[in-house]
Amino acid sequence: MTGSVERTVGHVPVMLAEVLATLDPKPGEVYLDGTFGGGGYAAAILERADCTIWAIDRDPQAIARGAVLAAAFPGRLHLVEGRFGDLLALLSGHGVGALDGVVLDLGVSSFQIDDAARGFSFRHDGPLDMRMGGAGPTAADLVANLSVDELADMLFKFGEERQSRRIARAIVAARAGQVITTTAQLAGIIRGVLPPDRSGIDPATRSFQALRIGVNEELLEIERALTQATRLLRPGGRLVVVSFHSLEDRIVKHFMNDAAGQAPGPSRHDPRGLLARAAAEFALVTRKAWRPGPAEVAANPRARSARLRALRRLAAGEVAA
Ligand SMILES: C[S@@+](CC[C@H](N)C(=O)[O-])C[C@H]1O[C@@H](n2cnc3c(N)ncnc32)[C@H](O)[C@@H]1O
Repeated sequence: MTGSVERTVGHVPVMLAEVLATLDPKPGEVYLDGTFGGGGYAAAILERADCTIWAIDRDPQAIARGAVLAAAFPGRLHLVEGRFGDLLALLSGHGVGALDGVVLDLGVSSFQIDDAARGFSFRHDGPLDMRMGGAGPTAADLVANLSVDELADMLFKFGEERQSRRIARAIVAARAGQVITTTAQLAGIIRGVLPPDRSGIDPATRSFQALRIGVNEELLEIERALTQATRLLRPGGRLVVVSFHSLEDRIVKHFMNDAAGQAPGPSRHDPRGLLARAAAEFALVTRKAWRPGPAEVAANPRARSARLRALRRLAAGEVAA
């Protein structure tokens, strides 16, 4: 194993100790880090055990930054630019057909959110872009082209914004007189219709989340990745997912419960539930989502909404508990 590598400043990995505890890296094993980002998880896994990591990120800047880490662990870190929703095809293109563990750390990195030019944040003015990768329509394209109904649906579904229709109408009215191209313009329009409430949360928060999820098709990506990841897990292999809001966590929770035969039934003793569990190929590692401890939240406010869930493919001959 190579010695400790200097961490890239810019993104503090969230729930790293818990990720390592649930992924439990071992020498000779092969992992997928589906959200390489600043490489915080990957560096820690590579340091923990003499293993190999395939690392995916859809952001070409993240992949380029990873070259330093790949050089520090020769032959052990392989960087692949692409979407984790295509992980099966991306890995099979490199001859990888089985994994001992997969980790996904959902959402955007600090590198992305803190860079005004990426257009993710209403705190910095920048172009209204929000694409994690370079392709496809930007947030400005959605704001320019969606109808009131389509915008309202997106804000409601992906931002859980109760004032979605008011905001959608305000956007469509504003775009008649100006082209909305910057984060400051959009945030200003939203703040114009939604005065700050007592929570202290910026009124633009939920709409920006919704547009980001829409632009990057984030929920669809998660669904695709979970199914594909479990197909690649060897017996005993672990899937670990860190999510940051309830829409993500709901998908992860339902997926993992289903895979482990734990879908809620009419009764705990219902024979259909018992049969489903007996037939399950996976077991939950985390019965309830794990949350970061208070020390981590104090040190890194971005950790405050994190939830970690993990699943394990049963070993050969193992029966679900
Ligand atoms: C929260 S950061 C990961 C940080 C990383 N765990 C670390 O310790 O540095 C999320 C990363 O996942 C990437 N990402 C998000 N959705 C993706 C997707 N569908 N496919 C590939 N990469 C994605 C983002 O570009 C971002 O770099």
